[in-house]
Amino acid sequence: MSLQKEISKRRTFGIISHPDAGKTTLTEKLLLFGGAIQEAGAVKSNKIKKGATSDFMEIERQRGISVATSVLAFNYRDKKINILDTPGHKDFAEDTFRTLTAVDSVIVVIDVAKGVEEQTEKLVEVCRMRNIPMIVFINKLDREGKDAFDLLDEVEQKLGLRVTPLSFPIGMGYDFKGIYNIWEKNINLFSGDSRKNIEETIAFDDVESPELDELIGEAHAESLRENLELTYEVYPDFDRDAYLKGELQPVFFGSALNNFGVRELLDCFIELAPAPRPKQSNTRLVDPNEEAFSGFVFKIHANMDPKHRDRLAFIKIVSGTFERNKPYLHVRNKKKLKFSSPNAFFAEKKEIVDISYAGDIVGLHDTGNFKIGDTLTEGEEMLFKGIPSFSPEHFRYINNADPMKSKQLEKGIDQLMDEGVAQLFTLELNGRKIIGTVGALQYEVIQYRLEHEYGAKCTYENFPVFKACWIEPEDPKNEEYQEFLRVKQKFLAKDKKGQLVFLADSPFSIDMAKQKYPSVKLHYVSEYK
Ligand code: G4P
Repeated sequence: MSLQKEISKRRTFGIISHPDAGKTTLTEKLLLFGGAIQEAGAVKSNKIKKGATSDFMEIERQRGISVATSVLAFNYRDKKINILDTPGHKDFAEDTFRTLTAVDSVIVVIDVAKGVEEQTEKLVEVCRMRNIPMIVFINKLDREGKDAFDLLDEVEQKLGLRVTPLSFPIGMGYDFKGIYNIWEKNINLFSGDSRKNIEETIAFDDVESPELDELIGEAHAESLRENLELTYEVYPDFDRDAYLKGELQPVFFGSALNNFGVRELLDCFIELAPAPRPKQSNTRLVDPNEEAFSGFVFKIHANMDPKHRDRLAFIKIVSGTFERNKPYLHVRNKKKLKFSSPNAFFAEKKEIVDISYAGDIVGLHDTGNFKIGDTLTEGEEMLFKGIPSFSPEHFRYINNADPMKSKQLEKGIDQLMDEGVAQLFTLELNGRKIIGTVGALQYEVIQYRLEHEYGAKCTYENFPVFKACWIEPEDPKNEEYQEFLRVKQKFLAKDKKGQLVFLADSPFSIDMAKQKYPSVKLHYVSEYK
């Protein structure tokens, strides 16, 4: 098969949601359709369960599972589907943000009763910034929830989206009768039987027909007609170009647990969702169909077995093909590397493959060469853009608790930061190290992993910072900037890439700095250009 044909078959996407909305359940049903798993319950949830185990043990458990669920691939019809795992827990938000740089589209899952929740808002905002095409799936229609129109309003307002429903529920909860599929113009009746794999649908071009009353009862038929009329009046017609540009989001309703409405979602998804898309590098826009391979690291899993320093770097192939044993250029290190056992992913299994195509993910065994964001090419010196660091939410000094082990501590911190577990800042004034994280949980994880994987001990000390702001001077030589550096000396640090940041202790001090030094721009994201 030609390169272009192979690549155009790929659909690489992520499912995003607030925890408990039904991401794992939906993933599992999608895999069932692909024949990749045989029974429900096969996909393990990587949720952080609050329970008897302490939080960091729970995270270790989660980490074990998330190796298995990092990429779930299957074939459906003539498409190769790659689902990238995006943890919903807020402490892993940074992980999810990075994974979103490797997807070509997303499905947003929303709980019909809870509506738009906090984590969904944050993740959708990142997708909106990147114009990632999104399809919305409103889940749990077998339960009582919010009115469909109210929910659509909420999605538009809270998520800043412009939606158009491609299906519409008939009743809900106890009274849930089924779904009218606006896209396919048919009705799918709900039987509550989750074992059914292929739902039977009844074609219904004309909802005015009296047959509709016979099928779902007069009251439901009448309200469906009204709802559809309103839908056609209020919402724009579906337009694929607008969807692909991230300007219009189609909405589906269903119940993942009952495997209801999932087939419609999947069928529509493979028809609408984009094949691998071009990606910007620092020198040019790279097209997936180019012959030459290029790709970037968006995730690193390390030391699952503390006895072996095993790391698995996940590469999204941006263009061409990745071949086993072929030398590729690690652009940052200027080194040529060969990989004898690249892993491809199928359902929950990894296997060694000879060739993978743009859109696919390969897992490369790594002995410490890779950092998140690294680019691999066939020789071209370019770097992919778009793996920014966001300002952490928590900041603490990290101290060495065992002076005999300072080398180990340094190495451990270094590697954990490469993996993207947290961010390291080094104070300009005295060289003290500060760890910034998205969630407080990460401190326990770091402490635990430093001890168990590197034999080093650390303690933390509070450091009151509100946000890290990356500094962009208009002119590094100007007087104003020099004064800013002098006055803020105590609050200046370098990030791991050597970029200067201002560790502001309050929103007030950021406002003051902006007022006093208008030529010094402050950014909450490391990649601001
Ligand atoms: P997540 O990955 O987004 O965090 O959510 P997950 O799929 O784990 O689903 C969260 C809970 O919601 C699960 O119940 C799941 O069974 C339930 N659920 C998912 N889809 C539907 C649906 O369409 N209808 C109904 N009624 N429930 C649904 P749980 O009790 O928390 O977990 P479990 O013990 O069933 O695994």
